[in-house]
Order: sequence, then C-alpha cells, then structure tokens
Amino acid sequence: MSIELLNKNVETTSPTYFIRTFGCQMNVADSLEYSRVLEGLGCVRSEDEMSADIVIINTCTIREKADEKAISYIGNIVKKRHSLAEASGYPLRGGVALVGCMASIRGDEVSKRFSDVKLVIPSSEMEHFESRIMETWPELVGSDAAIQTEPVLRPEEKYGRFINIVRGCANRCTYCIVPTSRGGELISRPREIIFREIQNVLNAGVRSITFLGQNVSAYGQENTDGYGLPELLSDVRDEFAADGIWFKFLTSHPSDVSDELIDVLNTHDSFSHWIHLPVQAGDNEILQRMDRGYTREYYMDLVGRIRDKLPYTRLSTDLIVGFPGEDEPAFMNTLDLVENVEFDAAFTFLYSTRRNTPASKWADPVPREEKKRRFDILVETQNRIAMDRAQSHVGRELTVLVEGEANSSGRNGSLMMASRSREEQMVVLPGVESDFGQMVRCRITEAKLRSFRAERID
Ligand code: SAH
Ligand code: SF4
Ligand code: F3S
Repeated sequence: MSIELLNKNVETTSPTYFIRTFGCQMNVADSLEYSRVLEGLGCVRSEDEMSADIVIINTCTIREKADEKAISYIGNIVKKRHSLAEASGYPLRGGVALVGCMASIRGDEVSKRFSDVKLVIPSSEMEHFESRIMETWPELVGSDAAIQTEPVLRPEEKYGRFINIVRGCANRCTYCIVPTSRGGELISRPREIIFREIQNVLNAGVRSITFLGQNVSAYGQENTDGYGLPELLSDVRDEFAADGIWFKFLTSHPSDVSDELIDVLNTHDSFSHWIHLPVQAGDNEILQRMDRGYTREYYMDLVGRIRDKLPYTRLSTDLIVGFPGEDEPAFMNTLDLVENVEFDAAFTFLYSTRRNTPASKWADPVPREEKKRRFDILVETQNRIAMDRAQSHVGRELTVLVEGEANSSGRNGSLMMASRSREEQMVVLPGVESDFGQMVRCRITEAKLRSFRAERID
C-alpha cells in the first residue's frame, strides 16, 4: 500500500502532506491552520505517514512523557520512511517539519539528531509557517500558489470546532513550561478576526465552537481598553447565538474568572455551563510556591459563586501531585479540597520537572513511590466522586450533538452514536447516520465514569 503511494507521489506533481498532532486542543486547532496553509500551497492531505512528502509533527512538551512520546515517534517514522524508500527504489521527497511546543524547547537538538527533520518552527513563530515551508521545500510547493482562505474542515471535527482566541501565557506558574514554549506574552486575536472565523465555520455546518487559550479568561488583558472575555462573549451572543449553536471556552484560570464572566453565561442558552478550572493543589503553601496567585479559600469561594449563579455547572479541574515540597499534610489538603468541591471530572498529573522552570531547581525529597501512592489515592477519590455525580444524572433529559458512530454497538448489534452535550458530557445513544450533526433530545439511562448511555426521546 505504502509503496504504491510512494510511487504515485513521484509520478504526480501534487505534493502530499501528513500531519500528526500531540498535546492539547490548542495544538489541534493549530494543526487545522497548518493544514489550511499547506492545502493553500497545493499540497494534498495523505493518511500515510510513510509515503507523504511533508510530514508535520505538532508536538507537546508539557511533561517529560510528552517529549519522550514525540521523540520515539520521530525516530520510528524516520526509520520506516527510509526502509520504504529503499524497498521501492524511489528517493524520498520532502522531509519532516517539527512544529509546536517541543519544537520551541528542543527543536535544534532534535533536528541535529534526525537529519530528516529539515524544518523546526516553534509555536510562537507559527505565523511564519507558510514562508518557512516554501523556503525549505521550494521544489514541492510553488511560490505562485494561491492561498486558500476557507477553513479546512476534517470529517472528525465537522460539527465541533476549536478556535484559538488568545496565544501565549503571561502567568509564571513555577512548574510550567508553556510561557517558554508558547510565548510569555498574551496575544489576543482581534474580535473581527475571531468573528470571521466563527462565521466561516458556522457556514460550514459547525454547531459547537470552543474558544481556546492557555488562559482563555485572560483574553484581552494585554490591552488597556477593558475588552475581555465577558465582552467578547456578549458580542458573540448578539451576533451569532441561536438555537442549536453552542459556545464553550477553555482553559480558565481561577484568578481571572470574574462575576461578569459568570453572569454573561446566564444570558443565552448558547453558552455552555461547563467550566474547566484547574486548581492544581488545595494547600495554600503549595499554591504559593506554584505562584498560582490564589488561595484555597478564594478558589472555594469562586466555585460557590459559580454554582449559585449557574446551578447546573459542570466543573472540571487539573491537579498536580508531588510538587516539590508537597508533604503529607499538604497532600491531605488537596484531597480535602477535592472531597469538598466535588468536581465532575479531573485530570490528575504526577509532577514532572521541566527545564529552566523555577521549580526545577528546588529540592524534591519525596520518593517516587510515595508520590505514586498519593496519586493513586487522589485518582481513586476523584473517580468515586465523579461516579456519584454522574449517577445523579440518570433519568435527566438533555440535548446532545451527534458527532459520529460510537465504538460500541447496542444490545442487539444496533447502531450507536457518539454525542456530546452542551456541558461536554459524552453520551452514547441509539441512532441512524442521518443524525450526524443533529441535536437530539435524550434521557440518561446509565452512568459510567467518563460517559453516559441514553435513550432517545424525540
Ligand atoms: N493554562 C492552564 C494549564 C495548562 S497545562 C492552567 O493554568 O490551568 C495543562 C495541565 O498540565 C496543567 O493544568 C497542569 O495540571 C499540568 N501541568 C503543567 N505543567 C506540569 C508539570 N511540570 N508537571 C505535571 N503537570 C503539569
Ligand atoms: Fe502554565 Fe500557569 Fe500559564 Fe497555565 S497559567 S499555562 S499552568 S504558566
Ligand atoms: Fe502541550 Fe503546548 Fe498544549 S506544551 S499541553 S501542546 S500548549
């Protein structure tokens, strides 16, 4: 199969590209932008990483494991591409472009190690993606290519779409590499550009839009005109909100979630009441050492205000276990916060040392086994809470957007659909192909840890 594709590449003039995305939703959104640019340059998308001319690897570097994953992936495909070229007798065209967050931190090192990595573009320089591609592979992408302005919609994200509204992060959490990998200044995209993108994707049939930023609630803070996320959302409401269109946003930093932001969510049914609000830790000393800029009391009060105003909010969080200096009492404070807040979902991470961050220089005497023990306790506790909360939804009615076929089938082999609610709950329900992209009413019949089963009521 691959050899045939490779032969075909050499015979035809259209260059092909393959793109592999690691990391968070921001990378998913950036990959769409890269695809759009490449297709504007006349490249054709390929699903075959071995034979594609240009292979874009969009990387993450948030924890050490992310680096390891990307490096082993690069090593693997470079090797396989060479054996395939040898077997087919055709020379390889093009090469690998390393983009995204690891490219910012270790790009040079990786390109020295793998000579097939011909191009490194850090996240903070993605606006130069097109010119860098053209410089690197002039024989593949012609300089007379006309840039296509329509967004590329892939089948897998046809009904739900991420839009980056702010780049970089102006915070300096002491464990975090993002200000280095993505840029340490906020760059908020102007309203007109965001509006154009919303209009484009709505025209293409998208029904659910998620606004993204590493710190989305800081949107506009670098400007002095007071135009922040609440203002943007109220303009979005006036221009685009309608029945059957949803707007979500991610990730909110607790320090920047204002009453205005909470209030605007109550002004239209288009707004999701799902808030991803990473707390990281429940101990004030640790929070201070992390430089998170809030206390446990502030966080609990914020959650109280959110739940007062938006009773059905779905709250999720991120937690770090084993931060340098976390002793048993500090860990117990995190556990206690988790018990008290009762999150609907949480992502729990073992602390990972990142190069040149302040925390990387601090003593970290707690043994790995002990950290792992705490991690397991926290995950177990949170899973029990999430399960209890999910159980309390059984019998409730809700609207979901059908996104595609579910992996599992129904009891008698009938077709099951994967869908998502406005509050980002995953729901599996019976359906037919014409349901794709439709919003349907259903009643939850069964709760699982990360998803629900439901029956149709429309
Ligand atoms: N901007 C978001 C988080 C971005 S990174 C925020 O401030 O909340 C996603 C998550 O990865 C973080 O919330 C944190 O829980 C985790 N994370 C970041 N750096 C980490 C590190 N060095 N070790 C372990 N987890 C980390
Ligand atoms: Fe990293 Fe903190 Fe910025 Fe989040 S707010 S991206 S954790 S520095
Ligand atoms: Fe990873 Fe970069 Fe996102 S480090 S988590 S891909 S911002």
